[in-house]
Amino acid sequence: MNILLTGGAGFIGSHTIIELDKKGHSVVVVDNLVNSNPEALRRVGELIGKEIPFIKADVRDRAAMDKVFDENKIDAVIHFAGLKAVGESCAKPLEYYENNMNATFVLLDVMRNHGCKNIIFSSSATVYGDPAIIPITEDCPKGHCTNPYGQTKSMLEEVLMDVQKADPEWNVVLLRYFNPIGAHKSGRIGENPNGIPNNLMPYITQTAVGMRKELGVFGNDYDTPDGTGVRDYIHVVDLASAHVAALQAISRKEGLAIYNIGTGHGYSVLDVVKAFEKANGVAVPYVIKPRRPGDIATCYCNPAKAKAELGWEAQYGIEDMCRDSWNWQKNNPKGYEE
Ligand code: NAD
Ligand code: UFG
Repeated sequence: MNILLTGGAGFIGSHTIIELDKKGHSVVVVDNLVNSNPEALRRVGELIGKEIPFIKADVRDRAAMDKVFDENKIDAVIHFAGLKAVGESCAKPLEYYENNMNATFVLLDVMRNHGCKNIIFSSSATVYGDPAIIPITEDCPKGHCTNPYGQTKSMLEEVLMDVQKADPEWNVVLLRYFNPIGAHKSGRIGENPNGIPNNLMPYITQTAVGMRKELGVFGNDYDTPDGTGVRDYIHVVDLASAHVAALQAISRKEGLAIYNIGTGHGYSVLDVVKAFEKANGVAVPYVIKPRRPGDIATCYCNPAKAKAELGWEAQYGIEDMCRDSWNWQKNNPKGYEE
């Protein structure tokens, strides 16, 4: 298939290009580079031995998107484009709602006008709020999102479901990602956060490389085995291959399909610190800090549905994730800026 990746220059998109290429799919990338660097696409091109067709454009720019669809026969879209920083979304709610909602509205309308009605959407475990069931299955009711970023994911899921319900020619796959970490094993592409990282793994790698003095562990009084927050970390390469597997739901014309994409294992913050130190032989100094507002104690999934219906399951464990995150960080201490 010929796949349009919106936001394809970002962390998950760049890894997904490689997995799509392995299975013989071709890609077109649209990204406005608001949170990414074209160097990522250049390096992906190097890794797969071909140049990546790239259009620098904002998905909200209808004329630019019309041109992309006029000039390329697109079979399906993987819609990664969006702003994703939880804390920033609380400070700039209007910018987050405007970008994430309008980009999707324009995209869906342009797709419809060009007769392309197949979409895979980057959703998030955040839509479950504080989950009613652990491990989380897709039947678990959606919960209250505590930030505008999460609200956009939850609202866009509803929009996509309504669009599909109104016109059953649409095939909509909602992938609810758990916590992606790790990097391509080459160490050439990886996560490249701006400024001080919000997420655990980039904070750990920046501490290990000496850019940060110590990791702050946000709370050790949760109702979890060691008191620190438990999450379902998934290797970004596994997450990338889940998108390739999800194309099957589109080929089978399933209409609406929803999948949790995680490993099914929960690791605490201290488990991850210990696994990182063991895998890489480097120390990660940490201090216990107060809880971070909006955090929940435990979030991990039951990924059985994706295995049963798509034949997809995660291949990599926490040691692989820690090793590959470190390999990326130590080879690229300034991300793509060298
Ligand atoms: P990322 O920021 O690395 O990638 C997103 C890309 O979208 C960036 O390259 C950015 O420049 C681009 N973009 C943003 N708004 C755009 C617009 N209006 N027009 C064109 N391009 C635009 O993030 P990522 O980690 O690769 O995440 C990809 C998707 O997965 C996002 O939708 C994110 O919300 C979602 N997601 C991420 C995580 C995570 O922890 N990384 C978890 C759950 C869901
Ligand atoms: N944590 C720390 N110190 C840090 C950073 C994080 O102790 O410096 C802890 C958090 O309190 C939490 C765990 O590490 O217990 C994971 O935190 P992250 O910020 O890495 O990830 P979250 O689970 O909070 O959220 C992430 C994404 C969201 C997404 C969610 C579910 O940031 O966008 O996963 O997919 F919605």
